[in-house]
Amino acid sequence: MNTVRRPTWIEIDLNQIKRNFISLRKFLKRNVRIIAVVKADAYGHGAVPVAKCLEKIGADVLAVAILEEALELRSAGIKSPILILNGFWPGQEKEIIREKLTPAIFRKDMIKTLRQEGERLGIPVGYYLKIDTGMTRLGFAHSRVNQIFTECFNSRWANCEGFYTHLSSAEDKNDPVNQVQIKRFKQVLETFPFRKNFLFCNHLANSAAILNFPDALFDAVRPGLLLYGINPLDSPSNLETHSALSFKTSIIQIKKVDAGSRIGYGGTFRTKRNSEIATLPVGFADGLNRLLSNKGSVILHGQKLSIVGRISMDLTTIEIPEHTTARIGDEVCLIGSQGDEQISIKEVADHCNTLPYEVLCGFGSRVQRIYSKNI
Ligand SMILES: Cc1ncc(COP(=O)(O)O)c(C=O)c1O
Repeated sequence: MNTVRRPTWIEIDLNQIKRNFISLRKFLKRNVRIIAVVKADAYGHGAVPVAKCLEKIGADVLAVAILEEALELRSAGIKSPILILNGFWPGQEKEIIREKLTPAIFRKDMIKTLRQEGERLGIPVGYYLKIDTGMTRLGFAHSRVNQIFTECFNSRWANCEGFYTHLSSAEDKNDPVNQVQIKRFKQVLETFPFRKNFLFCNHLANSAAILNFPDALFDAVRPGLLLYGINPLDSPSNLETHSALSFKTSIIQIKKVDAGSRIGYGGTFRTKRNSEIATLPVGFADGLNRLLSNKGSVILHGQKLSIVGRISMDLTTIEIPEHTTARIGDEVCLIGSQGDEQISIKEVADHCNTLPYEVLCGFGSRVQRIYSKNI
């Protein structure tokens, strides 16, 4: 179907993701592998195109959260090893094994299930042991790993490929809990009796930990944000990356209004002068958070303008400044840059009292994604 689409779109620069990857590759020691995190539709950038780009540029492993995400990648022809960070549910083991996926394991019974199913199918399967060193979320408690030693014997059908853990406060370099978690992880690795029998790949670091704890990277790192060009720290990073995503729309109506006019639901904005209000075909269903109402900005003709009135599900309004001539079809930048102005994902997240992760994961599926070519 060749339908003309609504003029609201997200541009994704795969070349920028590639540059971010190369920049990270150079930053790391040569023997540290990269497990590229592409869960949640590659943080809203589109799992398949991003994973294809990262596979081509040399990511060692891709990581997703759940089986469904891994299957999407396999169906698209992605052959790289895929780590499933949240493991699997009873009944999913067959597909895990058939599709050569590598789940995280965080309960003893999961190892047995994998071993039995691997043997039944006659296909060996690998897995990672997720260790909880202080997040108190998913994983075997670091102090109790000795209870799983007996389950993790080197079986022909189910093999442990490594251990990993996740820091709870990696953004805060000075939080002592980071060193506690790193120490606990090291202790687990040292005490695990079968360690030397396997080809082990152990890892701990997400993007923030890569920057804050470069001495605790072990055999691999698990970056998400950095690949998408977002600095996870509040301070400037010594690793240069740039955002690969822009969110854009166009004006679909312009109306002249008198001073004192109520704008949008609840009339939360009233014009202070006779002015022009432009309507944009984008709303909170597309990922333009309602908390940006009367607070956030857009860029028109290289000039930052305020969003006025409440953002509704599908529409948003801006006030055209005096002496500016806006026209139907003029491009409006919601995230990204236009002329000398820029609206960053971090800035939007700050306005919404949230994190860049939530902004990126919030883009609606009905927003068309346009990809740069020639990677
Ligand atoms: C276990 C795990 N590792 C790595 C990442 C990647 O994190 P970041 O995007 O901060 O690099 C995540 C993301 O939430 C995660 O859950």
